[in-house]
Amino acid sequence: MNNILETSCLTGFIRMCHDGWLQGWHERNGGNLTYRMTSEDVAACRPFFDETPREWVKMGVQADNLAGEYFITTGSGKFFRNVELDPAANIGIVEINEAGDGWRIVWGLENGAKPTSEFPSHFMNHSVRKAATQGANRVIYHCHATNLIALTYVLPLTDRDFSRALWQSATECPVVFPEGVGVCPWMVPGGADIAMATSEKMKTYQAAVWAQHGLFASGPDFDITFGLAHTIEKAAEIYVKVLSTGQGRIRQTITDDALRAIAHDFGVTINEEFLD
Ligand code: 13P
Ligand code: ZN
Repeated sequence: MNNILETSCLTGFIRMCHDGWLQGWHERNGGNLTYRMTSEDVAACRPFFDETPREWVKMGVQADNLAGEYFITTGSGKFFRNVELDPAANIGIVEINEAGDGWRIVWGLENGAKPTSEFPSHFMNHSVRKAATQGANRVIYHCHATNLIALTYVLPLTDRDFSRALWQSATECPVVFPEGVGVCPWMVPGGADIAMATSEKMKTYQAAVWAQHGLFASGPDFDITFGLAHTIEKAAEIYVKVLSTGQGRIRQTITDDALRAIAHDFGVTINEEFLD
């Protein structure tokens, strides 16, 4: 291999950034993506790492189970639409220290760029999802999904209300996220507080809604994670259209027993707490 950009981890990462851009979820520098590399990924990329890594930076959050890991991350203030054009300027690879509370850049993020301002949230979500999935989860994705954000102005900000509205808006939803989705109230982005609130939700859910802001989605690979965000946003779009065309009146929807029947036939365990 002659070029780090030929590694499967970087081609997959860059493709997902472009897919998100095409969906319209990444205005300006909106949204961010991180991927926890496998040891094979690190071995394939290591020959291209900088000769001298940059200085360690503390994150304000800590996780023992991510000490020594490597992540690909989008840069703070960088635009998803530019990632494919110039990866080394817009994304990078960071190494986590042995204390699990700091990072240093080992590749990319050229010209003084830094990892996403949401790195603390991504990091804590990675920690929680890695533990919850016995190491399977590797991707955390934050996007400004338009219709989902719109719903945070009109639906009560509860896990139950959002899970039910989304499940009822597309028959596949209870199969894709049978545990439902978590909802965080509006909070200042980019710090330890929103990181802790989101990671608390991610103990139970694969995805969390940030009121008046966007979505956090997790998964084992780029396809599954992007597919989860896409499914949630598509359902939100349908629900917005239902509320608009019906002027708030819903004539019929998927019943709770129908949701149970879908879960039964597809072999998933639906979160009964959200069913009547
Ligand atoms: P960054 O440019 O730092 O990734 O921030 C974008 C964003 O969506 C913040 O929530
Ligand atoms: Zn954001």
